[in-house]
Amino acid sequence: MTLPKPHGGTLVQAYQPNHDTTNITKEIQIDAIALSDLELIGVGLFSPLTGFLTKSDYESVVENLRLESGTIWSVPVTLPVTKEVANTLQQGETYKLTHQQATYGIITVTEWYEPDLQKEAREVYKTEELAHPGVKRLFERGDIYVAGEVILTQKPNKGVAQDVWLEPKETRELFQQKGWKTVVGFQTRNPVHRAHEYIQKAALETVDGLFLNPLVGETKSDDIPADVRLRSYRVLLENYYPTDRVELAVYPAAMRYAGPREAIFHAIARKNFGCTHFIVGRDHAGVGDYYGTYDAQHIFHQFTEEELGIKPLFFEHSFYCNKCEGMASDKTCPHPPTDRVILSGTKVRELLRAGELPPSTFSRKEVIEVLIDGLKQQKTAAV
Ligand code: ADX
Repeated sequence: MTLPKPHGGTLVQAYQPNHDTTNITKEIQIDAIALSDLELIGVGLFSPLTGFLTKSDYESVVENLRLESGTIWSVPVTLPVTKEVANTLQQGETYKLTHQQATYGIITVTEWYEPDLQKEAREVYKTEELAHPGVKRLFERGDIYVAGEVILTQKPNKGVAQDVWLEPKETRELFQQKGWKTVVGFQTRNPVHRAHEYIQKAALETVDGLFLNPLVGETKSDDIPADVRLRSYRVLLENYYPTDRVELAVYPAAMRYAGPREAIFHAIARKNFGCTHFIVGRDHAGVGDYYGTYDAQHIFHQFTEEELGIKPLFFEHSFYCNKCEGMASDKTCPHPPTDRVILSGTKVRELLRAGELPPSTFSRKEVIEVLIDGLKQQKTAAV
């Protein structure tokens, strides 16, 4: 096996830090999600996208999970603005893309259009309920979508150390240097608990390398902040993983919580990083009860592996079993729920906030210590 070609065939390279923007006087203000999308397009993680979706691509993605060209694409990447801003736009004009007074890129506007947000919510998120964090944001972001090719001129600084801030062209080189012919990508928005570790290591038994690729863009306010998580990943890797078989780098995207559709989207970005395999466990990218436990696995059956270009590795809900004295799943453990250590995210957050250690059968001690320390610092900063 060799590293996969980027999605759509070519790695998009639209990051030009020296691009002269001094003659561009008009600007469009973008939100944090559009800013991270701009970055992902610029560095090629959203290859083959070279800009925010046109109307025909947008409609095709919403309805068919494909771009108009037929290439698989499951989550719309759009630039929303208000109607007032849209009224000032000119076709063919180039605008600076600005977030909190700083310019991060430019867009040459080809068109703008009014999306059917209800339909987008239904098709992409499978619900129109505002209690769903992705749907809530969708309805808050703006009524008109602006399309056009972009250039990223400055990468946003999210306060993340440089050694884990790798572009796909760098990870591809790195995997090759290490001689990895097969690499499994792991998406997470959480600290790595024992269940995550178990499925990562089970996957690593059959491939050459593990690419631990935590998402560090916008998440829900009650998810653990990215800097604390990064410290917890480092301490875990130092203590429990073979360093020559694992690479850690961030995935700077915003979380959509779109479950099955987002699982495909996540897999495509990891293919662009150079991964040959991608882990999909239980309720991948889900939130609340909006998706069935394994919906994010079933969606992969709509596509052939050849067409998707990355092989999903599916895992059942995993847990520590006191009777088995080890990590297991329904596939490997015959014991009843009372023998199993299963804690909800809410329960774990409650324990951490109270300064209590969840059991070592749930999470490694070193990880928990970092999380408790991170929460304490947050509290101090908030006072
Ligand atoms: S996600 O939103 O990024 O998917 P999370 O960080 O919790 O959330 O999950 C990362 C990956 O691990 C996903 O593929 C998810 O399906 C999987 N996963 C999380 N917990 C378990 C578990 N207990 N058993 C099996 N897979 C799991």
